Amino acid sequence: MGSSPLLLLWTADPKVVRALDSLAGEHGLTARRPDAADPAETPAVVVVDLDAPGAYDALVDVRGRWPDALVAGHLGLPDRERWLAAERAGCDVVANRGALAAALRKRLAAGAPRRGRRVPLFALNDAAGRLGCVHKEPAGTGEPVAVYHVGSGFHACADRCPHAGATLSEGEMESGVVTCPRHGSQFDVTTGQRLRGPADTDIATYPTVSDGGQLYLLVPD
Ligand code: FES
Repeated sequence: MGSSPLLLLWTADPKVVRALDSLAGEHGLTARRPDAADPAETPAVVVVDLDAPGAYDALVDVRGRWPDALVAGHLGLPDRERWLAAERAGCDVVANRGALAAALRKRLAAGAPRRGRRVPLFALNDAAGRLGCVHKEPAGTGEPVAVYHVGSGFHACADRCPHAGATLSEGEMESGVVTCPRHGSQFDVTTGQRLRGPADTDIATYPTVSDGGQLYLLVPD
C-alpha cells in the first residue's frame, strides 16, 4: 500500500474517477476503491456517490469512522433537498459530478476542514437493542438535542419543534419519523426534513462519531 495519504473513492462514476485520479496526483494522494484499500488506514479524503443506493447511510458511517477526513459527495443532478441532506449527514463538500474535482481542489487548497468539538453522549452498549429516542442532550449544542436509533444508525436532531417549541422526542416515532406531540408536525430524524406541518422548516441535525465504544456529538465551532 502506498504511504501517501489515501483518497477513498466510494464512487464508480468514470468521469468523477478520472477527474479525481488527476487531482490525487496533484495533491500527493493515493486514490483507491474501498475494496482495494487497507481497512486499517485512515483516509485523508473520502468521496461518495450520492446517487448510489444507501449513499446517505454510507455517509453517516464514513463520518463516524473517520471524523477527521475531508468528506465529499457528488450528485448527478442539482437537487437542493438532497444537497442539504448530504451536508447534514456530514459532507464537507457537495457538488454536481462535473464540478466535484474543482470544488474539492478548492477545499484542499483552503486546508483541513473544521471539525468542531466533540460532546460525549453515551456508551454504545447502553443503547444496544433499543430503538427510537435513546438519549437527550440538554445543552450540548446550546439547545436540546435528541438522539434516535433507527435501522441505519444513530441520528442526532434538534429536540425543539420549530412551530411552537414542543419537545419532539416526547412524540410518537415510527420508521424514522417523529411526530410532534403538540400539533402533529412530522420530521425525518435521519435528515431533519419536515414531512408535515404546521411547522414550516426542517430541524437541525448533527453528525455523530463513535470512538472507543462511545458516541459523540460533533458540534460546529
Ligand atoms: S409545536 Fe410542533 S407542531 Fe406545533
